[in-house]
Amino acid sequence: MAKRVLVSGGAGYIGSHVTVELIGAGYEVVVADNMSNCDMTCFEGVKKITGRDDIPFYQIDCCDYEAVTRLFDEQGIDAVIHFAAFKAVGESVAEPIMYYRNNLVSFLNILEAAKNHGGCNVLFSSSATVYGEAEDLPVTEQTPRLPATSPYGNTKQMCEDILRDVVLATAGFGGAGDSDAGVAAGGQGPVKGIALRYFNPIGAHPSALIGELPRGVPNNLVPFITQTAIGKRECLSIFGNDYPTEDGTCLRDYIDIVDLAKAHVAAVSRMIDGRMKEGYEIFNVGTGRPVSVHELVTAFEKVNGLKLNYKFAPRRPGDVVAIWADTSLANEELGWKAERSVEDTLASAWAWEKYLAGK
Ligand code: WQD
Repeated sequence: MAKRVLVSGGAGYIGSHVTVELIGAGYEVVVADNMSNCDMTCFEGVKKITGRDDIPFYQIDCCDYEAVTRLFDEQGIDAVIHFAAFKAVGESVAEPIMYYRNNLVSFLNILEAAKNHGGCNVLFSSSATVYGEAEDLPVTEQTPRLPATSPYGNTKQMCEDILRDVVLATAGFGGAGDSDAGVAAGGQGPVKGIALRYFNPIGAHPSALIGELPRGVPNNLVPFITQTAIGKRECLSIFGNDYPTEDGTCLRDYIDIVDLAKAHVAAVSRMIDGRMKEGYEIFNVGTGRPVSVHELVTAFEKVNGLKLNYKFAPRRPGDVVAIWADTSLANEELGWKAERSVEDTLASAWAWEKYLAGK
């Protein structure tokens, strides 16, 4: 029987792309989303791309433990991919209580339900933000994490640690279906965990039916570029051109959203098929190639044959100069590698913006 994966936050940007790839790989997917930061556009797109009108959808808040546990009771979950979280760095500085409550409580509920339903595999969506301004580049999974500079970043670090601790604490529990005395009372079982540390996810599905839908003025670079190109924004500000890099602008590792989604399928299969080397594992998910902000803007103009209205502006507080991934561990252990070129990814981001404009 096909294994069943719960995707919390599955109607959002990354969650919708992951749902598509999981279904393509033969998994059954259950989506949970409270729709606090998205509408049904992407979930409808997922149904069109996969030709599946019957994907179970729970409009629930993962901060509601009763709702989460009911979902587990009804669906019989083999693995969870947890995306349900707030993600705006600036907002988290202004609203720390809201961020800590939402991002921590929802994850704790998922872990508790996973543990209480005979054990489960849990994939946590972490971020390269945990590395901060790293001294040695590219960063490997062994690169020390630096103190978080925002509540958002702190919730990523804390959730990684919570997952590690829960894996450790439940390691002795027998799994679901185990008949020996190792099965803990109440159907509890071991939680196994993988944290994927994403670099900068960009782009959209090649169908242009799903993509990023930022609310209000985008914080992230690529949605700001596409909205400027379509005329929704007047001018893109490139934050800082006096950094100690070749062209003076920041360096990032932009990872295509479909490539990123495929890394999730590889990680979930590794957990479900029992190929993990340890109960808790961490993988960088990036391309391994640094690209500057100015290079990205120029590549966008070139591949899409247009001129972008942009100007150089002062540095944005909190930005690191440069960060990119050493991806050898994911390449070797997950058998996964980023494949799509940055040009194709930028073309897909533009196709998605045009699709939205025509809706
Ligand atoms: C990229 C580069 C900006 C907007 C953040 C989070 C991280 C992760 C991804 C999210 C920087 C420059 C941007 C603009 C610009 N997780 N820029 N003009 O800051 O690398 O990472 O998003 O959920 O945790 O911190 O991404 O896209 O905001 O910026 O010049 O209008 O583009 O200064 O150098 P960032 P970003």
